[in-house]
Amino acid sequence: MNVPPSERLIVALDVPSAAEAQEIVYELGDLICFYKVGLQLFTAEGPKIVSELVNSGRKVFLDLKLHDIPNTVAGAVRSAGELGVSMLTIHAVGGKKMMQAAVEAASQSVNPPQVLAVTVLTSLSETELQDIGVRVPIANQVQNLATFAKSAGCRGVVASPQEAAALRASLGPQMAIVVPGIRPAGSDVGDQARIATPEAAIRAGASHLVIGRPITAAKNRNHAAAEIFASIAKFSGDERAAE
Ligand code: C5P
Repeated sequence: MNVPPSERLIVALDVPSAAEAQEIVYELGDLICFYKVGLQLFTAEGPKIVSELVNSGRKVFLDLKLHDIPNTVAGAVRSAGELGVSMLTIHAVGGKKMMQAAVEAASQSVNPPQVLAVTVLTSLSETELQDIGVRVPIANQVQNLATFAKSAGCRGVVASPQEAAALRASLGPQMAIVVPGIRPAGSDVGDQARIATPEAAIRAGASHLVIGRPITAAKNRNHAAAEIFASIAKFSGDERAAE
């Protein structure tokens, strides 16, 4: 997939208010055009923050990880499509009918959002998976669910840097692989356990990087974002697709 370099970096607006989100967006100016709105900001501020971003020419990844009956998820996806989001997430464990309903609802939008599947939350351990009845190793479960999501029509997955290379190999060049847990060399790891540098994640096959604190908590956010862009600039955006 050929992703324009400017759209490969998605900044996570993990803040509690629209005012704080707007401060970040204002500071990053023309450098960043893609933002992630997740559960915290969306629950606090509602769809208005998404509309404001879209109306100001930014792209939005709405990361609400939808998981409900097909009809309800389809309705939420339609609403997200009307808001003009570019990407949104659903849980693959919602099942094939739910994923197909989401994909079908997305396709009805004027500008259909990309529906991404979440496979196994990286916060879950193998023991916790067993507690909920999943008795295969995490890596296999991730692969199974990602393939399942592709067969249901999803156009990408969210994956940890460690999963990216195997997923790129199995899913092929056209699926988006959106990777969080990115830490530029020498930066604060924070609470992330399975991390990679921006270059390593792109090299492993990531189509997009989701980066929060290394940019939003930096003293100079512009500088931090520019450094990350520079570190991935040597990649054309379709280096895996060309293989
Ligand atoms: O601040 P940081 O760069 O760690 O933010 C990463 C973003 O990606 C956060 O919004 C976080 O919720 C999200 N995320 C993650 N790990 C996952 C899935 C999502 O860090 N496995």
